Amino acid sequence: MAALVLVLVPLALSGCAGAQNSLNPHSHAATDIANLFWWMMAIAFGGLALVTGIMVAAWFRRKQPDEEHAGERRGNIVVLALGIVMPICVVCALFVVSDTLIINVTQAPAASSTAMTIHAIGHDWWWEFRYPGTRADTADELHIPVDTRINLVATTADVIHSFWVPPLNRKIDTIPGQRNRILLYSNELGTFRGQCAEFCGLQHAHMAMLVIVQTKAAFRAWLRNEAADARKPAGGPALAGENVVLASCSSCHTIRGTSASGYVGPDLTHVGSRTWLAGLSFPNRRAWLARWITDNQSIKPGNQMPEFHFAAGRLRDVVAYLESLK
Ligand code: CUA
Repeated sequence: MAALVLVLVPLALSGCAGAQNSLNPHSHAATDIANLFWWMMAIAFGGLALVTGIMVAAWFRRKQPDEEHAGERRGNIVVLALGIVMPICVVCALFVVSDTLIINVTQAPAASSTAMTIHAIGHDWWWEFRYPGTRADTADELHIPVDTRINLVATTADVIHSFWVPPLNRKIDTIPGQRNRILLYSNELGTFRGQCAEFCGLQHAHMAMLVIVQTKAAFRAWLRNEAADARKPAGGPALAGENVVLASCSSCHTIRGTSASGYVGPDLTHVGSRTWLAGLSFPNRRAWLARWITDNQSIKPGNQMPEFHFAAGRLRDVVAYLESLK
């Protein structure tokens, strides 16, 4: 028994740490959600302590079988008060608090209360982010300015996904044919990890995202670059790689400023500036990128990209071109 507890407790607690921790909030909405959780936890443990205490007291004050009145039922008023009236009151109070206070803070924001809108589009299995009013279109890494209320519109290109960044707010499902909105806001600079929270197929676990909260000036600079067309490589392997990419990849990927305009996979216009790829499956480094192109079905089985077995020199050119797309 002791061994079982020693094994199970660390396993259970290991879920309480890490980058995707809803109990480590970084926004007003997430703070309210975490506080509600702790209050419910405290009240539940209070109830457990009370019931256990009464059971123990009853055990010590029990009558012996030969005593007068043994086996008679008494004290129904205690059972009524603690067993029925009090739980109803507690549950109603928690409902009112969570419904009137927490839902109000975390629900879809009034259109006039937000400074900008961002579209999050779920795909099997990656996230697309668009910034209406600009041509910026990126994947898996959502940049936002600090201290800015953002109207996040969540939709899907295929099945139901769920947009969830635990340190910033509750989750919101992406449902075919429907636009769901949620407030996205952070009062701190930093990078927060989020995750698709609705089972959506084989690679559901590899559908993560980063929210990168920047100063307003840094965000404006990022958005300006992201909205611009891809820069033509000056020469060398990157220029040679461009021809290969446009011939092989353009029916599935868009690279703005070139003939590539596919919409099956992510927009690659500035893929070189991202830190992770494929729903945060691996870091955006040369060796990983090369492996992804030739061997992606073993990294992320079931993803929609075919494997390309380029000769070594060509593969090097392709990777050089993708890396040049900053
Ligand atoms: Cu998308 Cu799970």
